[in-house]
Amino acid sequence: MAEQRISIHGQWTNRTVFILAATGSAVGLGNIWKFPYITGENGGGTFVLVYLLCIALIGIPIMMAEIMLGRRGKQSPINTMLTLARGEGRNPGWVWLGWMGVLAGFLILSYYSVIAGWAMSYVFRISGGMFLGVTADGANRIFTDLVTDPERLLAWHTIFMVITMMVVARGVKQGLEKAVTYLMPALFALLIVIVIYAMTTGYFMEGLRFLFTPGTIDGKGILIAMGHAFFTLSLGMGAIMVYGSYLSDEHSITQASMLIALADTVVALLAGMAIFPIVFAYGLEPGAGPGLIFRTLPIAFGHMPGGTMVGVLFFTLLVFAAWTSAISLIEPAVAYLVENKGLSRIYASVWIGAFTWFVGLGTVLSFNLWKDKTLTIPYVFEDLTFFDTLDYLTANIMLPLGGLFIALFAGWVMRKESTSEEIDTHPIIFKIWRFLVRFITPVAVIVVFLKAVGAI
Ligand code: TRP
Repeated sequence: MAEQRISIHGQWTNRTVFILAATGSAVGLGNIWKFPYITGENGGGTFVLVYLLCIALIGIPIMMAEIMLGRRGKQSPINTMLTLARGEGRNPGWVWLGWMGVLAGFLILSYYSVIAGWAMSYVFRISGGMFLGVTADGANRIFTDLVTDPERLLAWHTIFMVITMMVVARGVKQGLEKAVTYLMPALFALLIVIVIYAMTTGYFMEGLRFLFTPGTIDGKGILIAMGHAFFTLSLGMGAIMVYGSYLSDEHSITQASMLIALADTVVALLAGMAIFPIVFAYGLEPGAGPGLIFRTLPIAFGHMPGGTMVGVLFFTLLVFAAWTSAISLIEPAVAYLVENKGLSRIYASVWIGAFTWFVGLGTVLSFNLWKDKTLTIPYVFEDLTFFDTLDYLTANIMLPLGGLFIALFAGWVMRKESTSEEIDTHPIIFKIWRFLVRFITPVAVIVVFLKAVGAI
């Protein structure tokens, strides 16, 4: 039997709350902002296919592993890794995996908050009627005006960080439950409304063709698709692990993981089906980059009946979705400070928030004053701005690396008996899971890394 541990941070009231919280973490800007623009930049169909394969073969098994590790360790990822490695009689050096996750969480939140700020500012732009009858050029101009104004970006980034840290300071369980129960379904419904509008543009089939017809992809594209599978499911840095640590022992991990992954994938595909028909109908560039949804969706809101209301609601819900994700990026670090340094949640949140906010200034400037300051790391990436560098380093390198080691830990370091105690599903499902985390996931991550640097 596993030793009985209880989390000092409390527990989810029941399994549904855990699933909602984890779905809240998974569904966010990654689905609605990032998935469409990277799909556009990487040519569509094949990229989507690789992404879906990665969700199924890498994402779901690693999600199960993270929930399992968290629930067994019942502490912040740093202490969980330490406790579990010791419990298995292995090298406590595995603790670095927890630390890398904390670092990745900071770095991601620092830019995530800036993009969430864009969404906030769009709530007000749309409510003011700025997009009524707008042309593609007009929508482009409004976006450019926003991102070339560092002060405005800074203000929104600051507001988003403050509201995120407020929730984290109170403890993730309060507030999160309601937010996710009502707002998630509402976001889903609005996406469907926009997809229906997309059907009326006459370019719906073209959008679908772009999303689902295989074409070509290079090694970098494959890496970006895999990195995004980690990013969109919140895997590889301990966010789902820390949520798992608040889950009580009797619940099935397999079913929860599949539900979360399914919900997340459906939202991303709906976002793609909403956006690409509009892109083609208005002659826009699918590869327009991080501004893609901000340049396209407002055109739809400017032309559909009731568009102002739909648009305001949509961006409001997007901000909420970003918010429930942001919380999970910082929770591992806060939990650690509370456990090891005896800080109160409030104090820990303020410090971590301030630090993250500061790093975010680099992203604020990436779209204006530092637009031309780029970094190249030979073989890894070329000519990326501060924002692009952080995004690339975290999503395409740190998260897959974290996932690789989580899979190795769950598949090779932990004894089979320890894992089968936690993943108590049908023996066949357990066998499949174990095969995936022992062989498929690690090999896939390594092959994709090697392919991206051109080594194979
Ligand atoms: N999954 C979220 C999104 O798609 C972002 C996110 C939240 C995340 N927590 C994470 C990404 C942890 C990586 C790791 O918007």
